[in-house]
This record gives sequence, C-alpha cells and structure tokens, in this order.
Amino acid sequence: TQQTQTLEVNGKSFTLDADPNMPILWALRDILGLTGTKYGCGAGLCGACTVHIDGAPVRGCLTSIKQAAGKSVTTIEGLEADKLKAAWEKHNVPQCGYCQAGQLMSAAALLNTTAKPSEAQIDDAMSGNICRCGTYPRIKAAINTAAE
Ligand code: FES
Repeated sequence: TQQTQTLEVNGKSFTLDADPNMPILWALRDILGLTGTKYGCGAGLCGACTVHIDGAPVRGCLTSIKQAAGKSVTTIEGLEADKLKAAWEKHNVPQCGYCQAGQLMSAAALLNTTAKPSEAQIDDAMSGNICRCGTYPRIKAAINTAAE
C-alpha cells in the first residue's frame, strides 16, 4: 500500500507516495529519476545498486524506503569524492561502465573510514562489487592513487 514517505537524498528532502517496503533502488531510479544507481541482480549479489546510508555502503535493492527513512542517503549523483573520481579517470577504470557507480560508492565508503587501506582491506571492501569486464586491477590501482 502506498504511503507518503520522506527520504533525504543527496542533502535534499523528498516526499514520495510509495510502498514503504519498496527497495530504495526503485524509489531512487523510478520516482526520483536518479538513474546513476544501477539494477544488476536485485538479490544483493552484485553491488551495482550500492548507495550510502549515513555514509555506509548498502545494497539499494535490499534496503527498503522504510529502512532509509530518517537517514541520509547518498547516491553517485551526490557523491563528493573528487580525488577518487580523478583517480578513476587517471586509470581509465570503466569498460562497459555498468557496475562503476556501485564500485565508486564502495570505494568512497572505504576511504571515508580508512584513509590508507591495505590491499587486504581493499579486497575486503570491494569483494561485494562484481565487474563482468574484469576491471578489478584498475579499480585497485585507482583506490591506491586516491589514497596517496
Ligand atoms: Fe543490488 Fe545486485 S542489484 S546487489
């Protein structure tokens, strides 16, 4: 059943009529038009839908509007991570690009908590983000560049 919900996304407050159990992935993409967050598997397996809630990475496909209510949601459109984005460009990380918003969100969350992550910490933080093109070595290089 539809209810009036309030979501804070990228620092702005939005009111929307939606089922509180709707995954925020769909609220973001289909209601708010923030299509940078991608749908991959819909089952928590691929990481394409990764957004931040209060700065921590979560699966947009598994997080309901209800769970995000009253918290601060950040999507790729609102991500402030200039150094990380510059490193992504420097290393030409994307191939097809589809998973990259999720990759960036996970990498940014890692660097927010761990300024100089070890290789193992990078592997651990990025292990939930799948890339079918296999851009993993460039992702890692970009994270190391951003952490310099
Ligand atoms: Fe959410 Fe794959 S779409 S983890």
